[in-house]
Amino acid sequence: MKCNIIRLEETRSTNVYLRDLFSNQTVPEFTTVVTEYQSAGRGQMGNSWESEQGKNLLFSVLLQPDFVQAREQFLISQITSLAIKESLDRFAPGFSIKWPNDIYWNKQKICGMLIENDIAGMMLSHSILGIGININQEVFVSNAPNPISLKTITGDIQDKDEILADILHRLSAYYELLRKGEEEKISSLYFNSLFRKEGFYRYADKNGEFSAKITRIAPGGVLILSTVSGEERAYLFKEVRFV
Ligand code: BTN
Repeated sequence: MKCNIIRLEETRSTNVYLRDLFSNQTVPEFTTVVTEYQSAGRGQMGNSWESEQGKNLLFSVLLQPDFVQAREQFLISQITSLAIKESLDRFAPGFSIKWPNDIYWNKQKICGMLIENDIAGMMLSHSILGIGININQEVFVSNAPNPISLKTITGDIQDKDEILADILHRLSAYYELLRKGEEEKISSLYFNSLFRKEGFYRYADKNGEFSAKITRIAPGGVLILSTVSGEERAYLFKEVRFV
């Protein structure tokens, strides 16, 4: 896989930069925009994404997954999460994927993703994988829930470029697996990597808190929880909170 890496000292948001780029010209798959600083880094649910100048990995990757059905778009989140989680596994035990696509170290968040999929008819056309990984930042000032960095976990300054290259390599391998139709294998690896995969934990939905365990991820990335009484509840992203 040949990656076209565009390095920027500063930009508003790598997702926005990449979208503007491919809207105006032909851009090959796996074009990656990486920056040292985002003046308007975007997180999920309209939040901002905190990252100290020069400390962390902030990047966006362009895919053109026109062989993936729109209703199966969660597979893109799954392969991206797996590539990042497995890259971080090289540094310490304890990483997992918190549904739908955060990476946690024990109970703390090290990576967030903003994945924007464009649809053409029944298929995907473009995916922008926006990824923020806390690498060498040690103090976080925003009210992000439980942030942690690789430096805090390992005690050492880490090489951002090496980690980026490793993630892109793994992502490319997973992308080929997806192209070969190995959806079941991808979904099973994803499930096995989930945060809180086993046992009962507290969750909250619009009706309040309850105890449940994760039973499976249904097509479309729907989280299926099973309560203590055996009742199954299905949630889309934003409909349930991990307490
Ligand atoms: C989250 O809230 O968990 C998602 C955070 C995603 C942040 C990354 S940093 C690179 C890319 N550009 C952005 O503006 N956001 C994503």
